[in-house]
Amino acid sequence: MQLAEQIDTPSGIFPLIYDGSEFTSLDDSITWAQENRSELLDLAFQHGTVLFRNFSTVTDRDFDAFIQAFHLENFHYRQSLSNAVRFNRTERVFTANEAPADVKIFLHHEMAQTPIYPSRLFFFCEQPADTGGATPICRSDVLVVRLKEQHPQFVADLITKGLKYRNILPNENDPQSGMGRSWRSTFHANTPDECETNMAKLGYSGEWRDDGSLVSTTPILDGIRTLPDGRQTFFNQLIAAYQGWGSDENSGPPVTFGDGTPLDHVAVTAACEIADELTFEVPWRQGDVALVDNYVAMHARQTFTGTRKILASLVA
Ligand code: FE2
Repeated sequence: MQLAEQIDTPSGIFPLIYDGSEFTSLDDSITWAQENRSELLDLAFQHGTVLFRNFSTVTDRDFDAFIQAFHLENFHYRQSLSNAVRFNRTERVFTANEAPADVKIFLHHEMAQTPIYPSRLFFFCEQPADTGGATPICRSDVLVVRLKEQHPQFVADLITKGLKYRNILPNENDPQSGMGRSWRSTFHANTPDECETNMAKLGYSGEWRDDGSLVSTTPILDGIRTLPDGRQTFFNQLIAAYQGWGSDENSGPPVTFGDGTPLDHVAVTAACEIADELTFEVPWRQGDVALVDNYVAMHARQTFTGTRKILASLVA
């Protein structure tokens, strides 16, 4: 199946799209996925994203069953250090992000701003928005190739220095924010002391603020990731942090190089612009499933109107 706007890259079309119209039932779809699972995972790695359309997945339980065909280990949200507030539908399936419809979520690799991240993500369209609500996806390896041409020193610095992120974590969950998960939930702590102990184990440091919120700083994390086949990807949270997190004069910039030195604004802006050029917007239809290789492709969320229900599941 082909859709307009699919992007040609050196390692194939992005995204790769399968049409499951030939299957007459969900069971048939699942059997096919089971038989082809290892090839499909390879294709997701090569292409960044595989979109499955017309595979008879209608409900959250259908989606769960389809995912299980791949025999992959679940990545548990509660063990993650994700910023987002989420609610589970099944053991594996949760609502993608509870942030309001007018909040845009910028391109990112899932949880690349933390030391614990999933290898792959599945998305499922339970209900498309009335307008908007596409999921932008972007090939991160192609981005690095393009960025190196324009800003080779910046890419070299990302490799050698890595990145550190600063976050403000509220005292209680704030579902109105795209990243409103509290420090209690994030670090599995009931008291500030417990929180500090758990942060230290993960290499985080933090400062408390008068309103009970926490400004946390991550350990040094990758700026660029090298994949097993030698491709380099922009496996970080720079674009989302730069465009979406905003700056707080009390706590400094949301992201710096690992040694604390500031980032080159011109180079980061160039990365954002190149990423926009390389982005494909998944035009959701009810029942669509997308498999995203988290090391290869970034994802985001457009604003929307209406009731949009995109479910997600993460792979360890
Ligand atoms: Fe995400």
